Amino acid sequence: MRIDKLLANMNYGSRKEVKKLLKNGLVEVNGEILKDGKSHVEPELDTVTVNGEVVDYVKNVYVMMNKPAGVISATEDNIHMTVVDLLGEEYASHKPFPVGRLDKDTEGLLILTNDGQLSHRLLAPKKHVPKTYYAKIDGKVTEKERMMLEKGVKLDDGYVTKPAELTILKSGVQSEIELAITEGKFHQVKRMFEAVGKKVLYLKRLQMGSLKLDPSLSPGQFRSLTSQEIEQLEKDSPSP
Ligand code: URA
Repeated sequence: MRIDKLLANMNYGSRKEVKKLLKNGLVEVNGEILKDGKSHVEPELDTVTVNGEVVDYVKNVYVMMNKPAGVISATEDNIHMTVVDLLGEEYASHKPFPVGRLDKDTEGLLILTNDGQLSHRLLAPKKHVPKTYYAKIDGKVTEKERMMLEKGVKLDDGYVTKPAELTILKSGVQSEIELAITEGKFHQVKRMFEAVGKKVLYLKRLQMGSLKLDPSLSPGQFRSLTSQEIEQLEKDSPSP
């Protein structure tokens, strides 16, 4: 792993700040000063120090969860069960956190990790990483509403949403749709439907970037991401 990535992952600052630490000769690997951020180290074998302090390398964890309704997307809460509580003791020392939030009543794909850089990139508006949702809507979703939602609608705070993709799976007294958006405003899907006078009855996230919710996971279940899935997510949201 590149030394600058290792130090940024271990919260020694942004890539820029880490570069400065290296340039100032504050980083040593096995007792030798290392100045080039591109140099590779073996995090589990090499002894890395910053300012004389040993960097206690914690491996990154990447988990996919099928978030159940009733659980909140946070690391801790005094009243409610959180998605991190659901992960249990095994992951606690890695200090995972959810990548973005799903509402308490929303189900589906949630990534939990301690990789702050990847999380940031997956959520950054500029990266346009698409998130796909399945929803049940009260009432008939019409072709006209589909076009409005795809083009962009004005939310209750005046914000106009970016272009989206909407597929009507079923249109009737209760409709079923899939919506792909590239942003993550607070309650965005619910507020987009409110903007066309409709109410979301049920919401589930199906996909984030190229990562699809594993259909074998029931609500509340989770599994580690495979290395291919992690690589793919890195490609979905490349570093500048
Ligand atoms: N949009 C919402 O309204 N809620 C969610 O949980 C996610 C997206």
